[in-house]
Amino acid sequence: MVSTMYGQVKAASGLLLAVATLTGCGGGTDLGPRYADQLFFTFTELRAGTGPMAADGDIVTIDYVAWLHDDDETDDKGQQVDSGSAFEFVLGADQVISAFDQGVVGMMVGGERRLVVPANYALGGTGAGNIPGGAALVIDVKLVNLQTLVTDSAPFTITDLSIGTGAEAVAGNTVSVAYAGWLYDASQPDGKGVAFETSPSDGLSFTLGTGQVIAGFDQGVVGMRVGGERRLIIPPELAYGGTPPQNPLIPVNATLVFEVTLVSIE
Ligand SMILES: *[C@@H]1O[C@H](CO)[C@@H](O)[C@H](O)[C@H]1NC(C)=O
Repeated sequence: MVSTMYGQVKAASGLLLAVATLTGCGGGTDLGPRYADQLFFTFTELRAGTGPMAADGDIVTIDYVAWLHDDDETDDKGQQVDSGSAFEFVLGADQVISAFDQGVVGMMVGGERRLVVPANYALGGTGAGNIPGGAALVIDVKLVNLQTLVTDSAPFTITDLSIGTGAEAVAGNTVSVAYAGWLYDASQPDGKGVAFETSPSDGLSFTLGTGQVIAGFDQGVVGMRVGGERRLIIPPELAYGGTPPQNPLIPVNATLVFEVTLVSIE
């Protein structure tokens, strides 16, 4: 009987908590009389690791077990609701609940932490599977492995996704573009791996061909027509090379993928 139950829990492994939550998720939802305004996100070191320390942008592998928070039970561990084994994600990339993104930073490989997780750091007001909306959790996490994020290599590539109908951009024009950027990963569709950036909502303006942006942008937007969209694969020598910007998701010498829409030409 015990092993059957364990099997059922294992079947749900990693499915429930392996989702990104929206910032402020749970806002406006009744989080229940018991936990509302009472619980703060905290963690306790159960065992210090001896390996390298996890930081944003690392690919981490964790084992975890999650319980409903119940302060009548030992360690506040109520019903077990999820578990995961060898579960891998990029730390700080919003691929998982924020309890994992925030709670694993600073752990060393081999270490274990207990996270006390209010609903807005987990599944918020929505819930999933056997985790009810608004539920606070206790999650024991073990950091099993850590890899540094690197990208695959690819040559500079320009692909027109749609040809615009407006004016054509030439060097010296001040252009406004909307874009999204991914780390290049040859195993993913269109090479789009971890998403690291999107343009500001009112677009990005720059003067084409003057070095205000990475060279791959200066070169890759030339010849676009207003309304058109391109995919650019940009190797490090035309991107950030050995000195990436203050974004933990962009490793040194990264090859990047951008999808760029030319919004307007001044
Ligand atoms: C980044 O690339 C440069 C130029 O090829 C090289 O000298 C440097 O060692 C690389 N850095 C890392 C961390 O790979």
